[in-house]
Order: sequence, then structure tokens, then C-alpha cells
Amino acid sequence: MENKDKEIKIAASILNSNFANLAGEIEKVEKAGVDMLHIDVMDGNFVPNITIGPPIIECLRKNTRLFLDVHLMIKKPDRLLDNFIQSGADLINVHVEACPHLDRTLNYIKKAGKKAAISFNPSTPLCYVENVLGLVDMVLIMTVNPGFGGQEFIPAMTHKIMKLKQIIKDSNLKKHIDIQVDGGINMDTALIAVKAGANILVMGTAIYGSNNPAEYVRKVKDKVSGIKMI
Ligand code: DX5
Ligand code: ZN
Repeated sequence: MENKDKEIKIAASILNSNFANLAGEIEKVEKAGVDMLHIDVMDGNFVPNITIGPPIIECLRKNTRLFLDVHLMIKKPDRLLDNFIQSGADLINVHVEACPHLDRTLNYIKKAGKKAAISFNPSTPLCYVENVLGLVDMVLIMTVNPGFGGQEFIPAMTHKIMKLKQIIKDSNLKKHIDIQVDGGINMDTALIAVKAGANILVMGTAIYGSNNPAEYVRKVKDKVSGIKMI
């Protein structure tokens, strides 16, 4: 494993930011030293909420150099993959529950030159990762039921992260696969998730709700750096 793969990264979720001032909100987290921007796309169908789509991502792309990590919480994402690819996303993440032809979907994303990832709702078993591990750059374990920011981390997900880490290890693939956690991640749950094996922490409310995002990001990074993963 390369050194940079061992680094814990923070992805700022803009879901609970001020959508009326997205440019300013992004500048805020960019200055705070986050590693990427996590963009939650919701369709009011796969999840009970509607957020943003490709036209806004296209505008964000022109406004920031941050890596754009696009989390698609939508049904039938294949219909819109070209739009998200052209919008300037760096990584496209689909939910396994929404993709009956996951192999095809991931191949499509990879062929477009983007990083590909899959997400698991809290109740979805990890067996869906088995036949597509070679195609993904990242696996996201949802630590809340998707749809809203500001929810509480589900403790049972700690074991799921550990299990995923073991599956990746046992696969003996000669590549690094990131483990991302999303939902209810703050100073305390970040530590739990990293100890279990996560290396990319999505943080929305914790960062945007803090009086000093830069200090918060630094404290989280200090707290989790050097953790010996289980
Ligand atoms: C939830 C989203 C998350 C959410 C995280 O469906 O996928 O990315 O914004 O927000 P917090 O950090 O507030 O739980
Ligand atoms: Zn998300």
C-alpha cells in the first residue's frame, strides 16, 4: 500500500450547506483543508428528498479544483450517467440497490475515465460487492439511512466496515480500494469508523455546523492520524 493510500481523507458534504451561496460554502471548506467535495444527488424516489443534478455540478466544477465525489441516490442511474460524466464529476458512486446490471454500470463509468464506486444502505448485505470488487475504486458504507443530513451514526455499521475491510484484504486484488463512510460522522464517530477500517470520511453537519471549520477539520485529522486499523 502506498503512503498516500494510508492517509485519512475528509470529504465535505454540501447537503446541509447554504444552497443560496454554494460558491462561498465551497470556498469555506476548501480553505478548511478538506480533500474532496461530496455531492449528494437525490431524486425523491430512491430516497425521500430531492437535491441537485448535473447542471449544478457543472457550475461547481468551474468554481473549485477539489475532487468531485458524486453520490447518486437515484433509481436507474444508467439513464443519466452521461450527464454526470459530462458534468465534470471525478468519481461516480451508484447504490447497489438501484443497479440490477451493476457490472455494466461500473464498466460504463470506468470506460468514461471516471473513478467508480458503489454504496450500501445500512440494511443491504455486503455480498453484492463480491463480483464487482475488481471494478471499483471505492466502497461506501452508509452509516445512516440516506436522504438527509444531520442523522445519527448507526452503531451496527462498525462491524460492517470491518467485514468489508476483510473482504477487500481476502480478495488479494493488487490495487487499493477506498472505504468511505457517510452519515453522522463527527469527531467521535470518525475515530470509530477509522479504527474499523474506513479511510474517507464524509462530513456534512459536523463541518458546516462548526464555528471554525478549518479548526474542526484539523482536529479530526489529528485525532485519526496514526490509528492502527483493526
Ligand atoms: C445522506 C447523505 C450524506 C449526508 C451526510 O443521505 O448521503 O452525505 O449529507 O450528512 P451528515 O454528515 O450531516 O450526516
Ligand atoms: Zn452522501
